[in-house]
Formats: sequence, C-alpha cells, structure tokens
Amino acid sequence: MPTRDDAALASGLADFVDPATGATLAKLEAVRQAELRNGRARVHLAFGFPVGGYAHELQPQLAAHLARAGVTAPLDLEVSADIRAHAVQRQLKPMAGVRNVVAVASGKGGVGKSTVAVNLALAWAAQGARVGVLDADIYGPSQPLMLGLEGQRPRVAGGKRIQPLTAHGVVAMSIGFLIDAAQPMVWRGPMVTQALTQLLSDTDWGELDYLVVDMPPGTGDIQLTLAQRVPVSGAVIVTTPQHIAVADARKGLKMFEKVSVPVLGIVENMSLHVCSSCGHAEAIFGEGGGDEMAREYGVTLLGRLPLDARIREEADGGRPTVVAAPESPRAAAYLAMARRTAGALALRAGDHGAGFPKIVVEDT
Ligand SMILES: Nc1ncnc2c1ncn2[C@@H]1O[C@H](COP(=O)(O)OP(=O)(O)OP(=O)(O)O)[C@@H](O)[C@H]1O
Ligand SMILES: [Mg+2]
Repeated sequence: MPTRDDAALASGLADFVDPATGATLAKLEAVRQAELRNGRARVHLAFGFPVGGYAHELQPQLAAHLARAGVTAPLDLEVSADIRAHAVQRQLKPMAGVRNVVAVASGKGGVGKSTVAVNLALAWAAQGARVGVLDADIYGPSQPLMLGLEGQRPRVAGGKRIQPLTAHGVVAMSIGFLIDAAQPMVWRGPMVTQALTQLLSDTDWGELDYLVVDMPPGTGDIQLTLAQRVPVSGAVIVTTPQHIAVADARKGLKMFEKVSVPVLGIVENMSLHVCSSCGHAEAIFGEGGGDEMAREYGVTLLGRLPLDARIREEADGGRPTVVAAPESPRAAAYLAMARRTAGALALRAGDHGAGFPKIVVEDT
C-alpha cells in the first residue's frame, strides 16, 4: 500500500530540477527506481549525459529537496548514464558507431577553441564517456601538441581505415599526424574540405559517445562547407568577453543556424584573470560578453573559464588541465562546462537511437 511517504518521494523526485540540464526529473524521465525500504529511500536516476562524479554532486541537493518535500528517510542514490544519439542536419546521415559529433567553433581565431575542445573531450572521458577528437584545423593543427602526440603516426589497418592515436583515454585524428609540421600548407578550400571529410570518414573511430571536432577559426567557406558536410548534433561557440570577439562569435552562431546545426551554447574563455602570486581576480578582457550574447540569442552560457597561465602551460605540455590537475578549481570549470554541454545536448529531441545498442555506464 502506498503511504504518504511514497507519495512525497514520487512528487519530490518529479519536481527536482537537475542542475546539469535545468529540467525537472519528470521532464527528463530520469527516475528508474524510487522506493522506501527498511526506512531508507532508494533512488536510481538515469541521465542522457556522462555521470562520473555526478551522484556525489547531486546527493546533498536532492536529499535536501526531498526532506523539504516531506521525505524523512535518508537517501541512497544511484546514478547511471544513458547517452543517446541526437539528430543531425536533415540532408546528412549520422556516422555509424559515433553517437554525437559536437563541433567547437568560434568566429575569431585565438580565443581558445582548441584548448576548450581538448579539455571538453577529456572531461567527458573523465566522466565516463567514450570520446574522440577530430582536429579540423588543416592549416594550424593544435591537437597533436595538446594531446602529447607530436611526431607520432597513425597506422592504416588492412590498407584501408586509419587507426586513430590514443592519449589520456581519448582517440584522436589530426592532419598533423599525416603531414610534416614544418611544411607550409598551400591547399585551397575544396582540397581542405575534401581532406577533412576523408579524415572523418576514413578513420576507424570505433564506438563513441562523443566526437569533438576542433574547428578551424573563422566563418568563411571552409567552415561553412564543414558545417554542411559533417553530421553534427550540436555546436559550442567559444568567445572571449571582449566586444569584438563577441561580435565575431555571433557570426559563428549565425553560420550554424544557417545550416540547421543547433548551437548548444556559448563558452566564455579567459573571463577572469587570476593572479598566480596574489590570487587577485580581474576581468582584463571586459565583463559579461558571453552573458550578453547568450541573452540576446536565447542560448545557454555553458561555462566561464578563467585566464590562467597554467592552462596554457598544461595544454602546451601535452597534458591539458583536466588531466594535469584534475582536482584544481580550473579543471572544475572545464568539468562543469562539459556537464552542462552534454546536458544541453541530452535535452534535444530527435533521437535516432534505433540500431544502437543501449549501453548504461554505471557511476561507481
Ligand atoms: N583559459 C586560458 N588561460 C590561459 N591561456 C589560454 C586559455 N585558453 C587558451 N589559452 C592559450 O591561448 C592560446 C590560444 O588558444 P587556442 O590555441 O586554444 O585557441 P584557438 O581558438 O584554437 O586558436 P586558433 O584560432 O589559432 O585555432 C594558446 O596558447 C592557449 O594555450
Ligand atoms: Mg585552434
């Protein structure tokens, strides 16, 4: 017989707002199990994003919420991931085995796309997802350096598909692995897009939850063609708070709109400078650019990343922040950004999960 406590547990769970997505557990259909037994509330939640570390974060918030809803029993929480494939541009076919391709782009160069892309990939991997990185910057590939894979060459298996390289638990492919870094690239636009679509389709990515694409800077023909040819589930736009970079980021946003790729949100990079000797925080690139743009276009601000010399040193040293200093506040900023990005994607409709086995990653 359901008791008043059962009812309180059911309704308390239903209206709890999940911080990663901003949606209620009812809307997310996240509750897999909820029961009161031996004086304890046993709850199992499943989310459409990687959940490593999430139970720990949710436990106190959910327990407090349930207590307010009238549940007196202490909470035993279990959380698992159920990452689905999301729709891509209508005219394209999703990649076999790769659930979601996520493009990291910006209008302007040098705003930190590659650093965001690599830390996003490593954060998702740290949270339990299977992740790949495609460096789409033909003219200035950064991923070989940032992943500590410089000078390595991928193998071609059976004379056909290229085996990606592996670093820190993610697989990666870059034109930088195939060409001589010292040799200047004189390719024209069509050759570049041809080379990239080939890198994407000739690489043996295996089964991935997310493939992060580090886009070349700008919103020219190459970027537009890429956005039209690569089956993308969502894009992340990186900007710095300066007005000019934000104006450029708007162009990036418009470009994805034009080719019907949903923009998951904006990442504001180099938001606050934290002085390494005194700890003083200063907004040397201005304030609130990402916020302003997010409001104006109705997109989510996925994260604000500090300007910190260690972020550059770690990436240049082949061990990006999320791997080099996983417990640091700066890594926490990347991990939170990754959670919100995957959450924004999970909220999107248009699953084409048919044909993929359902895989549940347990949070242990
Ligand atoms: N939050 C940060 N704090 C400190 N340094 C950073 C931060 N983000 C990026 N950098 C540094 O800024 C430089 C540019 O970053 P990155 O290469 O990621 O930018 P990008 O947008 O990919 O550039 P490009 O347009 O050339 O591809 C790099 O040296 C990187 O280490
Ligand atoms: Mg780059």
